[in-house]
Amino acid sequence: SAAEKGGYDYFMLKEIAEQPKAVADTLLGRIDGAGSLTLDEVRIPANVLREIDKVVVIACGTAFHAGLIAKYAIEHWTRLPCEVELASEFRYRDPILDQQTLVIAISQSGETMDTLMALRHAREQGAHVLAICNTNGSTIPRESDAVLYTHAGPEVAVASTKAFLTQLVACYLVALYLGQVRGTKWADEIRAVVRDLSSIAGAVDRVLETMEPVRELARSLAGKNTVLFLGRHVGYPVALEGALKLKELAYMHAEGFAAGELKHGPIALIEDDLPVVVVVPSPRGRSVLHDKIVSNIQEIRARGARTIVIAEEGDEAVAEYADHLIRVPVTPTLLQPLVATVPLQVFACELATARGNEVDQPRNLAKSVTVE
Ligand code: G6P
Repeated sequence: SAAEKGGYDYFMLKEIAEQPKAVADTLLGRIDGAGSLTLDEVRIPANVLREIDKVVVIACGTAFHAGLIAKYAIEHWTRLPCEVELASEFRYRDPILDQQTLVIAISQSGETMDTLMALRHAREQGAHVLAICNTNGSTIPRESDAVLYTHAGPEVAVASTKAFLTQLVACYLVALYLGQVRGTKWADEIRAVVRDLSSIAGAVDRVLETMEPVRELARSLAGKNTVLFLGRHVGYPVALEGALKLKELAYMHAEGFAAGELKHGPIALIEDDLPVVVVVPSPRGRSVLHDKIVSNIQEIRARGARTIVIAEEGDEAVAEYADHLIRVPVTPTLLQPLVATVPLQVFACELATARGNEVDQPRNLAKSVTVE
């Protein structure tokens, strides 16, 4: 009913709007403004966590994209090697797992059969399993050694939005916590990022306030057949998620690429007026990445692409190559997906509406897939 949707036309719109609260709720009680982190729920003892020599993330769909982003954070803050694998592929390749492996299973529903079977396989090999889950008491957390719940609240729309943002938050918390427990050389940076996280819900809110031009742009592209998405570093999984959202909701051909791979193939797809969304990393910090993506944008634009650029506030260097510029607040590099994903959700939702699709219940999809 309309009341359940809180006055929004679709659950998805409501859930997109709830993201600042979902993010804040997932951080609540786990971090403080002084930069310290409390994760009592991670009931895997500190001495076990100190012995871990490898992290493996398993998940499906949107949760898999959260896992891809987690890899950057985990490897940077913990110096542990981290693999990310689609749950449906994981156990069939005879993965190398033992008591020193930490497996992180990410699942909104906690009932996805592919993820459940992968985690059972990991536990049989002696690995420690930590679930990141949005559904209290569901099967995946019950079968794990520990669980870090995301507090997105119930997510009804099939396409995942607020659960994804809270999965990212949980992944950052786990990465920072592992870094803290294991005592890496990033202690100061970890404290600073924890402080940055405490203002991130406000940043998500600011993005939501500036979405009207994105909706307008989406409507203008309703007759297109294809949209490409490019990113580098953590912007690459964001590009994959942007493409997935468009497939799920708008039933359009959409693909995400690592921008550095353009020249190895995908650039052949560029033709006149093809919309290409580019997620641009911050010009601060890893500025090499920024320069490289700016040249990628120039390359595709020279071949006729219509560039839709998501860039940090104050990033002027990229503005002249953007046919459409979408601004996001300044964040630490690793946290940018929390703000950069939001315009892509709004974009896909509006395109779906413009194409007359059922936003909350896309054809052929289920919210929770309980078969392998
Ligand atoms: C289904 C949903 C996706 C979701 C995936 C994983 O395919 O349609 O939106 O990302 O399952 O779901 P989970 O509940 O495990 O996060």
